[in-house]
Amino acid sequence: MAARIIGTGSALPERIVTNLELEAKLDTTDEWIRSRTGIEKRHIAVTETTTSMAVEAAEKALENAGMKGEALDLIIVGTISGDLCFPSTACQVQSALSAANAVAFDLNAACAGFLFGLAIADAYMKSGMAENALVIGAETLSKMMDWNDRSTCVLFGDGAGATVLKKDTAGMMSMVQGSDGQRGDALVCRNREVNNPFVQNGREIDYTKMDGQAVYRFAVRTVPRAITEALQKAETEADQVKYFLLHQANIRIIEAVAKKMNQPVEKFPTNLQECGNISAGSVPLLLDFINRQGKLTRGDKIVLAGFGGGLTWGAAVLTW
Ligand code: UT7
Repeated sequence: MAARIIGTGSALPERIVTNLELEAKLDTTDEWIRSRTGIEKRHIAVTETTTSMAVEAAEKALENAGMKGEALDLIIVGTISGDLCFPSTACQVQSALSAANAVAFDLNAACAGFLFGLAIADAYMKSGMAENALVIGAETLSKMMDWNDRSTCVLFGDGAGATVLKKDTAGMMSMVQGSDGQRGDALVCRNREVNNPFVQNGREIDYTKMDGQAVYRFAVRTVPRAITEALQKAETEADQVKYFLLHQANIRIIEAVAKKMNQPVEKFPTNLQECGNISAGSVPLLLDFINRQGKLTRGDKIVLAGFGGGLTWGAAVLTW
């Protein structure tokens, strides 16, 4: 038995910020952002929150799956930008969906958060602990950016993607995951102000910092390796895969992975042009875009892959 995705949904903030708008505010250019990343615009939350977008995406995914919230046994939200320290985003989603029978928790694996969530849902189903699950990736990264730091703020966006999974005879075929905490300094956000009177030099509030080139090198080395290993475990050839849906960080990373995998870049759909990098939200959001465009047929083999802060990475091969 395996977890099978039976519904998808997504949510994006209304406000779109183009590269040209950023050009007017920062020492950057539309040309630099497009040529170095592929990003043209991103959605930025003004009234929306991580929870509101997670709920909207989840409601659409449940509708797409033809399922009610009360049928869920498990709700996982991959996020690094929950609105509250606690209760978790997942518990807030549970409340909004009236999913009283579900166990709900958040998961911090940065841009691999959705992939790690899928692996947990699959393990719950294989062990008999769940029949139906909701796995969401949701982020409001805009609140974690230093909007004076052109090297980070132009890259990220806000949004959420959700999937409903059901225990079935086909679905998840294989998963490969990894973490390398020793290289965690490459992508960091310390976002807690310390005003404890017993601590001297309490830490000030801080924003996201990234050694872009180090993360880039990590991604182009690790992602093809993880996908290849996942394909081997699933006894599937890359040529049999219809789509490779990768974390939407940089078009150059996606093209490099396609080249290393010896696969046509057309098999690697993207939406980073419109959305930027949404960390845990990016893979499920892209999956929903593709699903709603009618591009997936039951039985198709697809690969999902996420990578980022931690460092963390995950790849999955699944039957649609
Ligand atoms: O979601 C987690 C995973 N994240 C990733 O996978 C991100 C991986 N990294 C990347 O995608 C790329 O490294 C970046 C897009 C972040 C940066 O691209 P790069 O080609 O590695 O550029 P760079 O950092 O080497 O910077 C090149 C130049 C620098 O100027 P100098 O030192 O050559 O004078 C930067 O100061 O570009 C400058 N620069 C900018 N210029 C205009 C950096 N950001 C900007 C900017 N506009 N926004």
